[in-house]
Amino acid sequence: MSSDMLVGRAVRVRSAVAADGDQIAAIWNHEVLWTDATTDTEPRDGRAQREWLERHRGDASAVVAVVGDEVLAYGSLSPYRPKPAFARTLEDSVYVKRGHRGAGLGTLILRELIGRARELGGHSMLARITSGNAASLRLHQRHGFSVVGVEREVAVKLGRWHDVTVLQRPL
Ligand SMILES: CC(C)(COP(=O)(O)OP(=O)(O)OC[C@H]1O[C@@H](n2cnc3c(N)ncnc32)[C@H](O)[C@@H]1OP(=O)(O)O)[C@@H](O)C(=O)NCCC(=O)NCCS
Repeated sequence: MSSDMLVGRAVRVRSAVAADGDQIAAIWNHEVLWTDATTDTEPRDGRAQREWLERHRGDASAVVAVVGDEVLAYGSLSPYRPKPAFARTLEDSVYVKRGHRGAGLGTLILRELIGRARELGGHSMLARITSGNAASLRLHQRHGFSVVGVEREVAVKLGRWHDVTVLQRPL
């Protein structure tokens, strides 16, 4: 657990707990339904969110940035592929609540995830980012990720094709 002062408020970064589920789902579902920040299209209902948390809490790979009880951002680590050979390659996910972006919260979350990925025995981290997402590309490049490839027009969302940029960072 760590804390930082951000725009005058004490922000704590800690492992996600069950009580954070609704707020995490609200942050995620907005992006799923209305933006191309993620190519996912299925919002999480209460049950799906509980399952998501169970999957990620086991190895402490879901983290939140909070002020008091308010979740301002969250992030997670997942195996890059669901096959044993890929287990030490971890894909990250970082989401900041609308209205709180550009204030360093994504940085706090990604920094924490990189530390946890090392503790989990990760060998490298990958991020798969919709190519128009300048904020996420910048965030990852600032944290040692570099572009290893671009998948051209692999996803259709909100009525148009999207490229996905793949970035990788050694651990
Ligand atoms: C992408 C996201 C996680 C970044 O988090 P954030 O808290 O807004 O970013 P930070 O304030 O920590 O800034 C990180 C870097 O990105 C830059 N940045 C932030 N917003 C930016 C924007 N809209 N365009 C370009 N760069 C931007 C910052 O200047 C900073 O770079 P610097 O250190 O060189 O100044 C956040 O904007 C977000 O949740 N967006 C919607 C969901 C999403 O896209 N998630 C990622 C999916 S791959």
